[in-house]
Amino acid sequence: MNSDLEHHRKIIIAANWKMNILPSESKALAIASTDTEWPEFIEVIICPPFTHLPLLQSLVADRIHLGAQNCHENQAGAFTGEISAPMIKDLHCDYVILGHSERREIQANENLESRILSAIHCGLKVIYCCGESISHREANTANEFIRMQLQHDLFNLPEEILKNIVIAYEPVWAIGTGKHAIPQEAQKMHAFIRAVLSEKFQVEDIEKLTLIYGGSVNSSNVDGFSGIPEIDGVLVGGASLKPQEFKSIIQSFAKNKM
Ligand code: PGA
Repeated sequence: MNSDLEHHRKIIIAANWKMNILPSESKALAIASTDTEWPEFIEVIICPPFTHLPLLQSLVADRIHLGAQNCHENQAGAFTGEISAPMIKDLHCDYVILGHSERREIQANENLESRILSAIHCGLKVIYCCGESISHREANTANEFIRMQLQHDLFNLPEEILKNIVIAYEPVWAIGTGKHAIPQEAQKMHAFIRAVLSEKFQVEDIEKLTLIYGGSVNSSNVDGFSGIPEIDGVLVGGASLKPQEFKSIIQSFAKNKM
């Protein structure tokens, strides 16, 4: 593995199925997409819709981790239509995605901090998403915007949360558009995110934090990302619904992080 990065940071490859695939199709897709080898330092996570989670539980023992795509900030109560972190945990999930830009559009930043705390409180790890919109990119204010997101969502949380968070840098303009960030741009943003976090958290904890990229990653561009030491994995949407694509993405990280 890359010199001093050995066992330093976990590599995460997460599939975000969003609102796709029927429950009855989910097990076959999960099996086909992960029908390949990967070394221990890589964690492969499947994040299907809530309805599919019970059907995928049996795969968890086979080195695949399960994640949900959101959770409520309360552990239980009169919240019709919501799903709580303990419910997700009870279905053998290890992860929950929080702050995805598609959720932020519906939910704004509402209670993100409480949702992160609620998830971590019951033993889940959080894949926390941040990223600038096209207007921030064009106005050259992406850094300021991301600093604001990190300060707002994470800076009031206790130091220990860093052990249970994976940060996904997902520029909104790259999600589902086929226009991925240039890997070197993502690399710069990852360095910037670590620098912002160091204003609040301990450097040793930030060093261990897994920071992944998301936005139109596929088999043809993944080598650009997996070859960069600062990029510790990817959050994959569209390409995670195609088994061959997702397997190639796993294989690229397995090869380039050795
Ligand atoms: P995409 O989605 O790979 O389809 O761009 C990524 C995401 O939304 O996490």
